[in-house]
Amino acid sequence: MAESSGNPVYEKVERCVAAVQARLGEATMPKIALVLGSGLGPMAEQMDVTCAVPYTDIGDFPVSTAPGHAGRYLFGSLAGTPLVMMQGRVHYYEGYAMSDVVLPVRVLARLGIGTLVLTNAAGGLNPDFTPGDLMLITDQITSFVPSPLIGANIDEYGLRFPDQTQVYDQGLQDTLMAAARSCNTPLRQGVYMQLTGPQFETPAEIGMYRSLGADAVGMSTAVEAVTARHMGLRVAGVSCITNLGAGMPGQARLDSSEVDEMGKRVSAQFGALLCVAIQQMVAPSNWNVPTPQEG
Ligand code: HPA
Repeated sequence: MAESSGNPVYEKVERCVAAVQARLGEATMPKIALVLGSGLGPMAEQMDVTCAVPYTDIGDFPVSTAPGHAGRYLFGSLAGTPLVMMQGRVHYYEGYAMSDVVLPVRVLARLGIGTLVLTNAAGGLNPDFTPGDLMLITDQITSFVPSPLIGANIDEYGLRFPDQTQVYDQGLQDTLMAAARSCNTPLRQGVYMQLTGPQFETPAEIGMYRSLGADAVGMSTAVEAVTARHMGLRVAGVSCITNLGAGMPGQARLDSSEVDEMGKRVSAQFGALLCVAIQQMVAPSNWNVPTPQEG
C-alpha cells in the first residue's frame, strides 16, 4: 500500500487518474501536455482529437467556471505530434482549494507526461511590452498565493522541500526562442507573478509588483508550475500580454472582455509558435526525460 494511502489529496488524484485511464483505454499516453489560458481555447481547433474527457465526467474533479475555459482534456495530436491539451483550467479565485486547482496537472503527471507547457493571459508590467506581445516565462513569483504543496507531503509525488532555482526548463526555453525565430514571431522574456484575483490590481499594486521584479501578472500558472516541478516534469510557460497593468500609461480601465479579445486576436500566431515548439520538444534530439528532484 502507498505511504500516502489515507491522504485525501492523494486518494482524489489517484481516483481521477483511474477515471481518465478508463476513458483512454489502450491509447498511448502523449509525453507532452499543453494548458490553454484565457482566450486561447480556440487553439484546440487545430488539434486532431482522438479522445475528449470533460472535467464534469471525472468524478470529483473541479469544474472551471471561468469564461473562455471549456474544461476538458483533449487527447490526440497537433500537426502529427501526440499531445494532451487542457482546454480550460481551474483558478484559485473560483473558490477551490489550492490542491484542487492543481489537481488536473497532478493527474497529467501521474498519467505519464514528461513535459508541461503552460500558457496564460497576463497583464504586462514591463514598460517595453505592448498588448498582443508574447512573453516567454523565465522565472516566477508565487509569494502572494498559497503554495499548492501546503499540507502533508505526498512522498510518492515529490520532495517536501523542492528546489525552485530553475522552475522553467532552460532547454525548453531555448526551444521556444528558436521556434519564435523560425516563425518570425517576436517573443519577449520575463518574470511572471501570480496573484489570487479575481479583482484586477490597483495602480499602487502594479507599482509595487514592478518594483519587486515582475514583468507580467496573472491569476494562474505559477502554482501549476510548482506542482509540475514537484512531480519531476519539465516545465515551460508563455504569457500572452493582453493588456498593460492597471494605471500604466496608455492603459484604460480594465475589462475582462479586453483580455479575451486580445487572447483570441493572437491565438493563431500563438498556436503556430506552440505547434513548432512542441514538435521540437518531442524530437529525439530533445527527448523529454523527466527530471526528478534530488534529495
Ligand atoms: N491582471 C491580472 N491578470 C490578468 C491581467 C491583469 O492585468 N490581464 C490578464 N490576466
